[in-house]
Order: sequence, then C-alpha cells, then structure tokens
Amino acid sequence: MKIDGKTKLVGIIGWPIEHTFSPSLHNAAFTEVGLDWAYLPLSVSPDDLEAAVDGIKAMGFMGFNVTMPHKKTVIEYLDGLSEEAILADAVNTVKRDDDRLVGHNTDGRGFIESLKIDADFLPEGKDALIIGAGGAARSVAISLAMSNVSSLTVVNRTSNKAKILTALIKDNFPECEVKVLSQNDEKIVSAKKGCQLIVNATSVGMRGNPGLPIDVSEIGAGHLVYDLIYDPVETEFLKRANELGAKTLNGTKMLLYQGMIAWEIWTGLKPPADKMIETLNYLMERKA
Ligand code: ATR
Repeated sequence: MKIDGKTKLVGIIGWPIEHTFSPSLHNAAFTEVGLDWAYLPLSVSPDDLEAAVDGIKAMGFMGFNVTMPHKKTVIEYLDGLSEEAILADAVNTVKRDDDRLVGHNTDGRGFIESLKIDADFLPEGKDALIIGAGGAARSVAISLAMSNVSSLTVVNRTSNKAKILTALIKDNFPECEVKVLSQNDEKIVSAKKGCQLIVNATSVGMRGNPGLPIDVSEIGAGHLVYDLIYDPVETEFLKRANELGAKTLNGTKMLLYQGMIAWEIWTGLKPPADKMIETLNYLMERKA
C-alpha cells in the first residue's frame, strides 16, 4: 500500500483498539480494487472523544468506524444520524457528507445480510427469540423488526432491560408482537418451540466467559441458532445446538457484512466480498 498526499483517510476509534481486525479488512479491500484510501486504528480514550472527533473532521477524514466504548457517546458530537442509528441509539460508522459528520449503524443490516446470504433465512413473518438486551441485542431486534418478523421474544438476566427493549420495538413497529421472559420463566420452553430463529446476543460463551445463555432443551432441526460471538468461533451454545440438529451461524459473518456495508457507505462502491472474506478468515485463523 502506498500513502501520499492524495490518499483518502478513514479509520476506527476505540479504547482499547489493539485487537481490531478492521484496518486489515478495509485496507485489503482498498488495495484489491486499487483505491488510494487508507484505514487507520485510532486509540481514543473516553475523555478525548470530543477532541478526537473534531480532529478527525478537521483533518478531512472521509469517515470512521466507532467501537467500544464510544458507540453511544459519539452521537452528541455528530451532525446527523441515520434512522437505524437513531433507533439503535448507537453508531458504528460515520460518513463525512461535505462538512457534516453523519452517524450510521451497520450492525443490524450486517446481521440480516448474514441470515439471508449464509443461512438462506428470510426474517419476514418469522418468530425470533433473542437472548440479551444490551447494545448488540438492540441492533438485532431493530433489524429484525425492520425486516417484518412476526414476533420477537426477549429473554434477559435483567428483565427491566428486556422491557425497555421491547417497549422500543412496540412503539416503532406496532405490527411486531413482542414478549419479555425472565431467564427462569417456564414459558421459555414454548417460546423455543414456537420460534424459528434463536439469537444469543449476550456475552455468555465468549472466551473467558464460558457457559450457556439458555438451556438447549427443545432446540432442534427447525431452528436457526445464531450466536453473535465470534471468539471462539464455536461457542458451547452453538456446539450443543449443532449436535441437536439445528442450523447454526456464528458472529463472523455479521462482522464481515457490517464492515462491507460501512466500506460501501464511504466509497459508494460495491466492496470486494471475496477478498474481505479471505482476509477475515486469515485473521481468524491467525488469532485462534
Ligand atoms: P453488547 O454491547 O455486546 O450487547 P452489553 O450492552 O454490555 O454488551 O450487553 C451484554 C448482554 O449480555 C446483556 O444482555 C447482559 O445481561 P444484563 O442486561 O442482565 O447485564 C448479558 N450478560 C452478560 N453477562 C451475562 C451473564 N453472566 N449471564 C447472563 N447474561 C449476561
């Protein structure tokens, strides 16, 4: 990759940022299509967020990704938001539109793309069970409601957070039936039996946080079980679901598609999918 005075800049702000795959993923795509763009990792502490966003704007960046812990707090320093970012109350991609910085959220769309492309699963009219009610669950719930699922059931350790999430869905998507269940509610059995999609959007099962987000009884061939976690690539939950005959997906493809959608938002071009998949696979293998 060559960098010169004409190179257009994008990047990612986060804290910490050492472990991000995004610079390799995006730079591989720029090189592949011969775009004179470069993507930089930018370590920004919470105290420096406002100054960093102003600086990125002043330095003429074309846009940037936003990761933990800035996805929500960055909003107050932006000039506008997409509908998905407003509903998600979180931004993972910012695009410069002339002198304005506009926040987008590509996580939910990345999730839906992976359902369609990698599992041949069309959400419209389906019933989904989401475990978790944090930021990731919110993006998934919004994207499923936007894709016209028939119902959403949310299970979370802290049921008040699940109630807030379902209220948001109810207010914005009145056609979508919503339910909240607590972790030990007996109705989880019928919720599992009655749905076609089960999503783990908690951090249970991540490296360093082993365990199952819910009991796997009733899971079987009629389910697509999606774990947003990609490290490890196969959580205990996915392993058990797989053994029970369910179709399974991990979070790798969501990571890929949210990045591809961001790339397209910045450049206006179709991203080189094969190159980005190859790069992500390489990064995942090297990490394992
Ligand atoms: P993210 O942005 O990745 O969604 P988050 O907003 O911190 O992260 O949300 C983490 C989710 O994992 C929450 O739903 C959390 O449940 P609580 O709302 O009860 O905190 C869930 N979670 C994390 N650790 C958990 C555990 N040990 N058991 C059950 N749920 C857990």
